[in-house]
Amino acid sequence: PPRNHFPTPSPSLPTLPILVLACDRTSVRRCLDSLLRYRPSAQRFPIIVSQDCGHRETAAVISSYGDSITHLHPPHGSEAPSVPDEHRKFLGYYKISRHYRWALAHVFRVLRYPAAIVVEDDLEVAPDFYEYFQAVYPLLLEDGSLWCVSAWHDNGKEQLVDAARPELLYRTDFFPGLGWLLTERLWDELEPKWPPAFWDDWMRQPEQRRGRACVRPEVSRTVTFGRKGVSHGQFFEQHLRHMALNRRFVPFTRMDLGYLRRDAFDRRWAAQLSAARPVRLDELRAGGGGGGGGALRLRYGGRDAFRAAAKALGLMDDLKAGVPRAAYRGVVTFVHRGRRVYLAPDEGWAGYDSSWG
Ligand code: UD1
Ligand code: MN
Repeated sequence: PPRNHFPTPSPSLPTLPILVLACDRTSVRRCLDSLLRYRPSAQRFPIIVSQDCGHRETAAVISSYGDSITHLHPPHGSEAPSVPDEHRKFLGYYKISRHYRWALAHVFRVLRYPAAIVVEDDLEVAPDFYEYFQAVYPLLLEDGSLWCVSAWHDNGKEQLVDAARPELLYRTDFFPGLGWLLTERLWDELEPKWPPAFWDDWMRQPEQRRGRACVRPEVSRTVTFGRKGVSHGQFFEQHLRHMALNRRFVPFTRMDLGYLRRDAFDRRWAAQLSAARPVRLDELRAGGGGGGGGALRLRYGGRDAFRAAAKALGLMDDLKAGVPRAAYRGVVTFVHRGRRVYLAPDEGWAGYDSSWG
């Protein structure tokens, strides 16, 4: 790629290590190639690959990168974690959770980095992946109502996003994972209670999230090519393989991202919502909405109405701890036939309801 669009690194910029979790995919090469290809500085973005599972071919692939990365081997090797009998079929989720705990502890406790970007071995990154994290990092440090920055948009399918606006960023109450930045302070909080399995859904529970949001982009800065994974390709055919990866470098570090602070963002979010023209699902599906090209607002009254609308419009319709994917304050925004839509709860929304799923 052309290298002249990278801003000149300044010595005062923070170091953000990339922690790659690998297991038995030799295609980790695709992940590492994209990480190395776009990396603006080897000093500021050290790549640490932690390889679980003791898979020889994968180890050889990782080793072939020599000094350009650090290759770690968790001490548990290929030994099986203990799993309750009724969870035997979830063994993979136990291994992943154990690996995360070890690798994050290594990065924060042994290597003593103040923050890290976590990447799984089946992710490919966008040209401005580093630029994005570097720019939003100060906000993560300063705004206590944020707990992560993610490269992933759960509804980031080609036809659901505004590809012409790759600079757009949002807050979301749904923890997206899949290329995300956390601070050591968050690890201090999570480490003592880190779960034996299903770590990502555990993060989404209110006891962990504690009302905090993540920053996410309009157009994803990662895509996954891991069709066959521990979750057996749940969502892959229907959603994950259709995700758009941003290709245009956005100079985030030279932009004012103050609009992402809670108060500013919430004010704008409410204003955008009230300025949007009300529309019904059947009108929207019939291509209607009328009134020029302005934004539209579609209300949902309950879980079933949310899921029906999400399904009909191609959004992810599952919820975790009552939070729809990519939602902020109950609202999911996306593009439908070129128009901005806000799928919003009825007025008087009282917060997420875990009984919704
Ligand atoms: C899904 C999630 C993933 C999450 C995982 C655990 C998506 C697309 N993926 O995994 O983000 O971490 O559930 O809840 O939503 N791995 C190990 N040890 C193993 C097996 C796998 O460390 O024994 C690593 C892999 O190298 C990879 C990660 O765990 O980095 C996820 O594994 P994968 O097989 O891709 O599972 P998904 O189904 O995508
Ligand atoms: Mn995966």
